[in-house]
Amino acid sequence: MMDKLVIEGSHQLEGEVCVHGAKNAVLPILAATILNGGKNVIHSCPDLKDVRASVNILKHLGCEVEMQDGTLVINSSGACGFEIPERLMHEMRSSVIFLGAIIARFGKAIAALPGGCELGPRPIDLHLSAFRQLGVDIEEEHGYIKCSCDRIVPTAIHLDFPSVGATENIMLVAALAQGTTIITNAAKEPEIEDLQKYLNSMGAKIAGAGTSVIQIEGVKKLGDVEHSVIPDRIAAATYLSCSAAAGGTIELKNVIPSHMEAFLSVAEQYGAKIYVSDERIVHVAPKKLEAVKIVRTLPYPGFPTDAQSPLMAALTLARGASIFVENIFESRYKHVYELCRMGADITVDGRTAVVRGVNELSGANVCAMDLRGGAALAVAALAANGRTVISNVYHIDRGYENFEKTLKALGAKITRQ
Ligand code: UD1
Repeated sequence: MMDKLVIEGSHQLEGEVCVHGAKNAVLPILAATILNGGKNVIHSCPDLKDVRASVNILKHLGCEVEMQDGTLVINSSGACGFEIPERLMHEMRSSVIFLGAIIARFGKAIAALPGGCELGPRPIDLHLSAFRQLGVDIEEEHGYIKCSCDRIVPTAIHLDFPSVGATENIMLVAALAQGTTIITNAAKEPEIEDLQKYLNSMGAKIAGAGTSVIQIEGVKKLGDVEHSVIPDRIAAATYLSCSAAAGGTIELKNVIPSHMEAFLSVAEQYGAKIYVSDERIVHVAPKKLEAVKIVRTLPYPGFPTDAQSPLMAALTLARGASIFVENIFESRYKHVYELCRMGADITVDGRTAVVRGVNELSGANVCAMDLRGGAALAVAALAANGRTVISNVYHIDRGYENFEKTLKALGAKITRQ
């Protein structure tokens, strides 16, 4: 039986949340562990379904993996596999990130094409085009991608769109190449900076992550590494959305406020009082949220697409109409229909959603359609009158560690069935 979350709404949230390590930082780092053929010690590793799926891929490739109290120890010295079978590829959408690391280490890689996903088509053309520019031969047949090369040929690569995954894949494949690779129009997400830090701690020579130009000077060998993963800015934004919807005052610990600027700016617009110190954010929800004129999702440092749905769920209860424009993914409004079943008033036209604030939401049986959309249903449920039952919770488990425990500690009435 698949798990369900049962939430009795209309209880204010009060207290502290210690934010877990970032899913989107740790996934490329797990791929990077293949590169050094040595020991990798990763602290603040969140216990998530996607992390376990990555660990399964690493084990399949021949790595030794141990997880203890949030620290993953991976020894990749015995890795010899270069093929990721379909079943492991489908467990996680972002498994394409393993290709770059496997090619860098073995000069070849075979993987099933990642399936289409709940956010609309998720092409990997930018990844493959970058690999080709770096001298990798690629054949696509029978649903598999076969990559091979005698050696990586460093070059300058311009990305037509600042894809997070493609930027990371280029860094991974170029880290061990002979010569200098330059990425222009690179993605600037903080998770890319964390990957650079990880690789450089191994002995790589990479500079520029966090800006749109990244320079990777290949090195011959990479060594053992120990690293702490940055806090998850999307989980942080989700808990702030919960607080905005349900009311009350919460304090986030283990956050990097500068990574949250786009969200915090919106939070001020909906009327929250925000107090920021070193690694903490206090969020005081207003009695009634104000509508936010327009929220456009954009590459970092713009408003993150991953926080769009949790924020939207909170703004269903605002005074006035808020407009969302989703610029990153084609079909990222699947939560809208479920929110409407709870009484929200939202209309979607292409990439635009208009959210007219209502006075109350009512609990309903709803279904998580994707990771962040699932979290959005929980945000709405916390504010709704009566009981909401969310099915397909496995989506939420892909990206939030101890989701209901964390909310329960804030006073939410939430249980898993
Ligand atoms: C990463 C994040 C994901 C986040 C997204 C955008 C991880 C593990 N996941 O995903 O949570 O929502 O960034 O911030 O870090 N595209 C192409 N061709 C490609 C690659 C991407 O057209 O080869 C398009 C995608 O379809 C999408 C857009 O570019 O419309 C952004 O994708 P990208 O930045 O690559 O996202 P991911 O790395 O998949």
